[in-house]
Amino acid sequence: MKRLLHMSYLAAGVGGLGFFAMSILLLGVWPGRALQDQIGRTQPQHPPHLTASEQRGRVIYGREGCAYCHTQQIRYVAADVARFGKATLAWETIYDYPHLWGTRRIGPDLSREAGTRPQDWQLSHLYAPRTLVADSVMPAFPWLFAGAPDRPLQEARDLVNYLETLGRNRELVGAEGEAFARMACNCPGDEEKFGFGAGPLNASPAMARRAGAFPKLEAGDAAAGRALYATHCAGCHGVAGLGDGPGAAGLQPKPANLAEREYSGDQIGFVLWNGVAGTSMPAWRDLAAGDLASLAEAVRGFHAAQSEPPIPRAVLDLGARVYTDRCAQCHGRNGGGDGPAAAQFPIAPANFRGRRPSIAASLRAVREGVAGTPMAPWAGELAEAELSAAAYYVRTFFVGDAR
Ligand code: HEC
Ligand code: HEC
Ligand code: HEC
Repeated sequence: MKRLLHMSYLAAGVGGLGFFAMSILLLGVWPGRALQDQIGRTQPQHPPHLTASEQRGRVIYGREGCAYCHTQQIRYVAADVARFGKATLAWETIYDYPHLWGTRRIGPDLSREAGTRPQDWQLSHLYAPRTLVADSVMPAFPWLFAGAPDRPLQEARDLVNYLETLGRNRELVGAEGEAFARMACNCPGDEEKFGFGAGPLNASPAMARRAGAFPKLEAGDAAAGRALYATHCAGCHGVAGLGDGPGAAGLQPKPANLAEREYSGDQIGFVLWNGVAGTSMPAWRDLAAGDLASLAEAVRGFHAAQSEPPIPRAVLDLGARVYTDRCAQCHGRNGGGDGPAAAQFPIAPANFRGRRPSIAASLRAVREGVAGTPMAPWAGELAEAELSAAAYYVRTFFVGDAR
């Protein structure tokens, strides 16, 4: 009996240790190996390591506590995939170690932040989030700047460079790499559906796109539009639409002055649905169709009609000649912003069929160019008569809402 009791201590001891060993194997080693194996099979090519600047940005991201509010993993659930894009695969962050995945989502997930917003937006947002996003609870990080959003210190640059790596690996592999990973993954049900399913890699509703069908806007409600405008747009475009909101200071190109341009309904619909690619102007796909229609009313409400002198035929003829020679390759033969050279520029040339700048704005743009866009100043290039004739002429393309 006594001997048996001794044995039971031993048995419990061995059993306990065995239990520990089993847990480590089952919960640590085995899943780790399975993941390693999946990474090995699905990683389409060796993703690039982070550059020195991106690596420093990673450290700053950790130091400033960004991970307390932002996750970096899109989970295998429908709501995540609809809002952010394809679910995160194991290999995507292999060099991002130790991981900054985070667990709390006070702000949006950042796994697909690369390419979502241009740099001027990112910097201005870091400097003072509320100037761009009125009701943001994200803290400001002014100590990463020398007193202004367009004067970032190296730390702010590093941090934004790091943000531009989030999702980059997955984007770089392209359709071929994606097909390879999908085949090699050989994964069941939900993993297949959420990791590789239809739908975009980056589903951010705010990411600006150069092209894309937009929903036809019905008649909107001007008062509701003005309230929406005050919340979502005034930070950049200013309360009176003059392009001078508190967020405008660090942006390049500047937010459009909505008072000195006339827009067709289709142009406003296109811009609200797709944003203006290459600029900080986001797309507003997360707003309801009725809200977009109301916003369009608000935008039109800013336009102040001015009496405009008639332009003599001879001047317009000169303008047409200058335009064909110098402007049509970008702005298109019919002013649609779709000339043969248009596609090569990050910011699309103005579509004069859908927007008509005032005479003053048109002259200014042609004389001085539009800072931050491929529109160069023509003041030294063209004679004053040619220049003004072209500026008048482009205004004749406007078709408004007629079709
Ligand atoms: C207290 C929580 C909090 C902290 C800390 C925080 N954020 Fe945010 N962040 C938010 C919220 C909320 C939003 C959504 C509103 C907005 O866009 O400002 C946001 C939005 C963002 C966006 C925009 C995403 C998009 O494309 O719409 C980026 C990028 C971002 N944060 C980066 C950072 C970085 C980098 C840090 C650390 C320096 C950080 N955040 C710290 C709460 C936070
Ligand atoms: C983060 C700053 C920012 C916010 C917020 C913003 N815009 Fe813009 N907006 C811009 C910039 C920058 C441009 C582009 C100027 C250019 O192309 O030269 C622009 C352009 C526009 C244009 C003109 C597009 C064209 O084809 O000429 C319209 C209309 C417009 N915004 C409406 C809005 C409305 C309505 C809202 C709110 C729902 C809004 N914007 C919010 C920055 C912003
Ligand atoms: C390299 C391509 C390119 C060429 C060439 C070019 N433009 Fe532009 N133009 C642009 C771009 C890009 C914009 C800015 C679009 C924006 O800000 O959204 C622009 C803007 C403008 C605007 C301002 C529109 C507004 O609503 O404020 C006017 C006016 C204009 N261009 C006239 C001309 C004329 C006239 C010529 C020829 C003398 C010309 N452009 C040549 C690319 C070009």
